[in-house]
Amino acid sequence: MAEPTSDVELFLDIAPEADTMEADVRIGLSAKQPWLPSKYFYDARGSDLFDQICELDEYYPTRTERRILERILPELNALFPDPTVMLEYGSGSSTKTRLLLEHLGSLRGYVPIDISRDHLLSTGRALKTLFPRLSILPVCADYGQRIPFDWDAAGLGPLAQARRMVFFPGSTIGNFTRETAADFLMRMRDLVGAGGFLLIGVDLVKDESVLHAAYNDAQGVTAAFNRNILHHINDRLGSLFNPDAFRHEAIWDADHERIEMRLIANEDVTVRLGHDAYSIERDSFIRTEYSHKYRLDSFAELAGSCGFSTKHVWTDENQWFAVQLLEATPSTSR
Ligand code: AVI
Repeated sequence: MAEPTSDVELFLDIAPEADTMEADVRIGLSAKQPWLPSKYFYDARGSDLFDQICELDEYYPTRTERRILERILPELNALFPDPTVMLEYGSGSSTKTRLLLEHLGSLRGYVPIDISRDHLLSTGRALKTLFPRLSILPVCADYGQRIPFDWDAAGLGPLAQARRMVFFPGSTIGNFTRETAADFLMRMRDLVGAGGFLLIGVDLVKDESVLHAAYNDAQGVTAAFNRNILHHINDRLGSLFNPDAFRHEAIWDADHERIEMRLIANEDVTVRLGHDAYSIERDSFIRTEYSHKYRLDSFAELAGSCGFSTKHVWTDENQWFAVQLLEATPSTSR
């Protein structure tokens, strides 16, 4: 077995140099239906608001997924061979990550993949202190990037031959369009290689009233989270928006089986960026997020078309959320 590294250094740094926020905002605001990329929710305040959402009574996904994971730990333990390396998009600070790192005895390495170098390193060091037996190998990259990992050339010793498992919880896959979800699944398949695993959380289609409450909570935390995208853009690009000129709405789009988060203009709004001006009429809206909900058969079909076979599906008693173990097949059918 490879000696665990004594300290945590970046294992791979492929973060893009260029900041694309301005270009992204221009593209979004010039579309017929204006939109902003949901990744811009997450500055420090946005991440904090998201943590608060996860604690809300109405927001069932986090606790439902956590309970499923707690329940299936013994089964997972029997499924992953020793040695297994776990990869995750995120810095590794979530309680679900800790749950797995603590209880899966066959894990020998952990690869967090995140855009924030500082966060990666500080969380990596904290994890190393908690789990000294693990090699912690942080990768600084954007979610959207393909990660050119040459496992054999990476100097990992026996860990290069370990089974790889990507942990992708939280139903973050729902925030991709169906098409970009397929691209992302295929990228994860490339990352684990044939025989590797994807342990993924998938939020399921359910009664509209449950969904509506989860994304329109009574305390207005989701509303603050939604409007925070405007604060974050203002902080980085200058005061483009008056966040008070917009109100939060989340609707269930039954045709596409997705929640759509919107910021509705309370008045006519003009957004000036350099020499350009973008108009948003009163009562029209900026789309800020999709949150797709899946059915078990449609998700299995999607996973199958991206080179995964469904090994196990675990749900809660209401069938609101599914944790799924997918295995990468030797070649993709796409
Ligand atoms: C991160 N993601 C899975 C959350 C979701 O439910 O789609 C983001 C979120 N948006 C509003 N509330 C939570």
